[in-house]
Amino acid sequence: MDVKKKIEALREKINRYDYEYHVLDAPTISDVDYDQLFRELLELEEAHPAYVSSSSPTQRVGGVVLDGFEKVEHTIPMLSLSNAFNADELKDFDRRVKKLVTDVDYVVEAKVDGLAASLRYEDGVLVKAATRGNGEVGEDITHNVKTIKSVPLKLNKAVSIEVRGEIFMTKAAFLRLNEAREKAQEPRFKNPRNAAAGSIRQLDSKVAAKRALDMFVYSIAEFDDDATASHSDVIDYLADLGFKTNPYQVCQSIDDVIEQCETIESTRHAFAYDIDGAVVKVNQRELYKRIGYTAKSPKWAIAFKFKAEEVITKMTDITFQVGRTGQITPVAILEPVEVQGSTVSRATLHNDGYIKSRDIRVGDDVLIKKAGDIIPEVVSVILERRNHQSRFVMIDKCPKCQSVLKRSDSEADLYCNNPSCPAKHLETLIHFASRRAMNIEGLGNRIIELFFNEGYVKTIPDIYRLHAHRDELITKANFGEKSITKLLDNIEASKQNSLELLLFGLGIRYVGQKVSKVLAKHFGSLFAMMDGSVETFTAIDEIGDKIAESLVQYFASESNQSMIEDLKNLGVNTEFKGIVSEGGAYDGKTFVLTGKLNDYTRDEARALIEAQGGKVTGSVSNKTDVVVAGEDAGSKKAKALDLGIEIWDETRFKERLS
Ligand code: IVH
Repeated sequence: MDVKKKIEALREKINRYDYEYHVLDAPTISDVDYDQLFRELLELEEAHPAYVSSSSPTQRVGGVVLDGFEKVEHTIPMLSLSNAFNADELKDFDRRVKKLVTDVDYVVEAKVDGLAASLRYEDGVLVKAATRGNGEVGEDITHNVKTIKSVPLKLNKAVSIEVRGEIFMTKAAFLRLNEAREKAQEPRFKNPRNAAAGSIRQLDSKVAAKRALDMFVYSIAEFDDDATASHSDVIDYLADLGFKTNPYQVCQSIDDVIEQCETIESTRHAFAYDIDGAVVKVNQRELYKRIGYTAKSPKWAIAFKFKAEEVITKMTDITFQVGRTGQITPVAILEPVEVQGSTVSRATLHNDGYIKSRDIRVGDDVLIKKAGDIIPEVVSVILERRNHQSRFVMIDKCPKCQSVLKRSDSEADLYCNNPSCPAKHLETLIHFASRRAMNIEGLGNRIIELFFNEGYVKTIPDIYRLHAHRDELITKANFGEKSITKLLDNIEASKQNSLELLLFGLGIRYVGQKVSKVLAKHFGSLFAMMDGSVETFTAIDEIGDKIAESLVQYFASESNQSMIEDLKNLGVNTEFKGIVSEGGAYDGKTFVLTGKLNDYTRDEARALIEAQGGKVTGSVSNKTDVVVAGEDAGSKKAKALDLGIEIWDETRFKERLS
């Protein structure tokens, strides 16, 4: 056999084995024999470079390293789906469809939680792969997609076609990856979706090749001659071409659809990959044009989204948290469990009324979920699993200072009204330094608690006296010299904050972020505000009686007056500096600036971000939301890519800020 033929035969064999292993999940050859064939092909290609082909399985090992991602314009936009959150909303969808057309079947598939991608094949050969991007323009990820073993580099037919699907990582691959990262002291990925996103946005395809990515293909973007085929035919056709396709179910009625969606939801944990819903599509593709589209999504399909995930765990104790205002919140201590990608060991129980109405008892197995998908809360008790737990009894004294607790006006909550309760002071300090208030990086809960317990910081002004203890902190509190310098610098820098941050940081009851901005803008200085009466405050549009009274009461207190005086003498700015964002577009978002920006200095860029409520930090981590990468951005950009964090170049940065 001549070399060319031999190479082709080997490629065909290896492609076949790849397909059996990665698409059918049914290997017919041992790993050793496979490796042997692969090596043989590699050697032949090396010896005969003229025969190297971009669709050879040897291309999957990666090696292409890019400087950046090229933009790819989608010939047909990549839309998204509208959502249905329950059976009624699925019925509404059915009604909408049936108003336009009669006689439809539906196809139900699992909604894989990964990232959408588009693949273009010419004469059966993969030529381009792109991310969804904004739906109109995505990024070229061909080099990385080629490393995904379930994506055919060459189809079973020499067709030219553009297909769409979801790139994802299995739960098992995700766990293995995180284990390896932990060993290598690299940050863990939050969930398989982030891991997949981070991997597909690697500039170096060798890295992507190691990440065990996978892909389901679920539709054809461009159809010419077979517009009458049904969606289920399309899936079968895609499978025939060699793609990995989603299992699907054809349903004759919306009731069958609902049943199928519920079946998928109740078995979601049995899937090898994360799914976050089910996708329902009209099966008759010839009806798509008639049913039509909204600007963002087709009207002939809908995503059925699962309920926020609830998990069961044991509640081993109930503790009580004393808030800054003295409010007492019961907190459930739990045996740690994973909920939607993070480990949860505490959950709120809101107040004693909440516990009593649900008869929640220490030792119970409880159902927990993330309220608004963020804050874990106890939902209910699994009564069948209860043994002999005794009823919950609410405390009547403050757990920190033992003062007798009082009911709030609404009767729902209990408060510690002792003005010198240490827990309240600690919470006040934590609030003052927090991200949305004075935003002192490095002065988090743990550090403040340490300083508080050691007696370095008892009041807010003490924060600005910490530098006097610099040497002691290095030796006693076990601080590195570098980190204490950084912390003290950050504290010093916070003195320049505009008034609204200081005002919010003081933690005056009912004075939240928005009210602080309104007040700072109106009065211009803290001292002007201190002279305000209920009337002057309520004359401002957004300020009602409750807030006005709270302000007057706060400023009337002598100890508050002397604390404010103290802060001023320590050099803390008490004036409004004029940059205020009304409900900033980046409220609570963390940015990292890296590389050189042409039109802004670092400080200007930072100010622009902060003006919109964002925060700028120095290093990229899982907590970073966006990395703004200018020219010659180096390791920070690389890390952002690695972690799957959104990256903006200067043009994008300008666009977004405008
Ligand atoms: S069909 C017009 N089918 O869900 C959009 N999407 O907003 C057609 N997804 O990011 C999408 N599994 O990538 C479809 N079986 C499936 C899917 C699926 C996951 C993703 C899709 C998109 C999002 C919908």
